[in-house]
Amino acid sequence: MTDLRLDAALLRDLEGFALGVASEAALLIAERAEAGVSATKSSPTDVVTEMDRRAQALIEERIAAYRPQDAFFGEEDGNRAGSSGITWVVDPIDGTVNYVYDIPAYAVSVAAVVGDPRTPGAWTPVAGAVVNPVSGERFWARAGGGASRQRGRLGATRIGVSTQRDLSLALIGTGFGYEPATRAWQARVLAPLLPRVRDIRRFGSAALDLCHVADGSLDAYYERGLNPWDMAAGSLIVTEAGGTVSGLDGAPASRDFVIAGGACANDLNLLLQAIHEKVGPHPAP
Ligand code: IPD
Ligand code: CA
Ligand code: CA
Repeated sequence: MTDLRLDAALLRDLEGFALGVASEAALLIAERAEAGVSATKSSPTDVVTEMDRRAQALIEERIAAYRPQDAFFGEEDGNRAGSSGITWVVDPIDGTVNYVYDIPAYAVSVAAVVGDPRTPGAWTPVAGAVVNPVSGERFWARAGGGASRQRGRLGATRIGVSTQRDLSLALIGTGFGYEPATRAWQARVLAPLLPRVRDIRRFGSAALDLCHVADGSLDAYYERGLNPWDMAAGSLIVTEAGGTVSGLDGAPASRDFVIAGGACANDLNLLLQAIHEKVGPHPAP
């Protein structure tokens, strides 16, 4: 991990910049959605839109102008090395399938992290924002500064995770990958979990799922297969809202597994570990 001193003023600055640039990109993608999205589909479900690339290019341009010494790591092509120890980890549209189908559950996710975002457990988000342009929901956080949410024109408010301890009363978010083998395995994990919890939600945007854990509208969330850009901003927003984000059994959150939650996160982790032992390992390398 980079030994980088980040003072309070810098963290505030990174947080404000993340929120500003995510909001600008969110407006860009929402305007285009209003005008009709032109999508190209690399497989029936893995949708890559021209807007992913345009929104990422806008964010990258703003970062290069404001903080030229920082590195950039986005979902689309065009990554850049830096010298400051800070890397911007960006998902220009999280919830692409919702975007293409005009379901108002997609967001721009922008985070400043220290360390190497390509190595699980070797990076830490220090500031970030997630903006849903259609609902008007904006979430943001900085290390040590708490997490906030603003809905449309309503004032900003501090958010906190759920205090629900009882898994049988917990509303759990999850998501599914794009590969058929992963989905079949995810279905086998989900089947024994479903009768043990209040209910399951699959909204289709991991970044927003994490923010909804942060504001308590989900009690917890889990998924296999997330990339750093799906979770960088959202995971900081969860931890700053008082929650936990980890992998299974004490491992760091990674592509292998992410569990985020409030008071029921530990029990969910134990239950998912037991389910994994029965179901067996994920089939992919
Ligand atoms: C996806 C969404 C989805 C999650 C997938 C992600 P994308 O990101 O976050 O909710 O289940 O694992 O890949 O493709 O919409 O950016
Ligand atoms: Ca994503
Ligand atoms: Ca995306």
